[in-house]
Amino acid sequence: MTQRPSQSRTRLVMGNWKMNGSLLANAALLQALVAGASRARGAQLAVCAPFPYLPQLQELLAGSLISWGAQDVSVHEQGAYTGEVSGSMLRDFACTWVLCGHSERRAMHGESSSLVAAKTSAALALGLAPVVCVGETLADRDAGRVEQVIAEQLEPILGLGAAALNKLVLAYEPVWAIGTGRTASPEQAQAVHGFIRSALTRSEAGQTRILYGGSVKAANAAALFSQPDIDGALVGGASLVADEFLNIAAA
Ligand code: 13P
Repeated sequence: MTQRPSQSRTRLVMGNWKMNGSLLANAALLQALVAGASRARGAQLAVCAPFPYLPQLQELLAGSLISWGAQDVSVHEQGAYTGEVSGSMLRDFACTWVLCGHSERRAMHGESSSLVAAKTSAALALGLAPVVCVGETLADRDAGRVEQVIAEQLEPILGLGAAALNKLVLAYEPVWAIGTGRTASPEQAQAVHGFIRSALTRSEAGQTRILYGGSVKAANAAALFSQPDIDGALVGGASLVADEFLNIAAA
């Protein structure tokens, strides 16, 4: 069921810095974002940074129009899990958001869809808002398996139930469009966003935000945002350049 963006779905433009940044570079970027945040014209702005920079985000973004979060979370609360970071630790730095199941974590760290759902559930239990990422590879697309792959990735998330779905955000990021400069066309993206929305129940469908990610830049943002089921963007490379990120938000 394709729906027009409604007032209940505020547009969200979120930067995923991935493993980029330094204290010095972040300070300049964050100050420019705070100074320009009003250009977002009602869209929500957010930044997901590497763990060590969360205190810096808290310091520089508190009280601004920009919320922040992390790029991953452990399913565990605490204990002997070397290298893991728990949701309560993210809460200590006032994170609102956490990315769950980004394709780079699925591909490079072997995260299964059931683990992604467990992380989503752990994040929700601590009051974090998960941004759950799904997306097909080029091989999946060429084989005509887009909907099958997305449905498989979504299944354990849908199983978390309506209370969970009303709090999380979904992100469609076709793997072949990430960091490649090759964006899905607005029509290609809308087709999958519509498919994802049709997998939600009626009340969830009206409310759940579905972001698009994959080589989003100022030049293509407006066309993507004009699609009825695209509620914002998850931005990688372009989120490292303040002006470009703000121009996307203004689109
Ligand atoms: P790019 O915008 O660099 O293609 O990255 C997209 C992405 O993976 C955001 O999570």
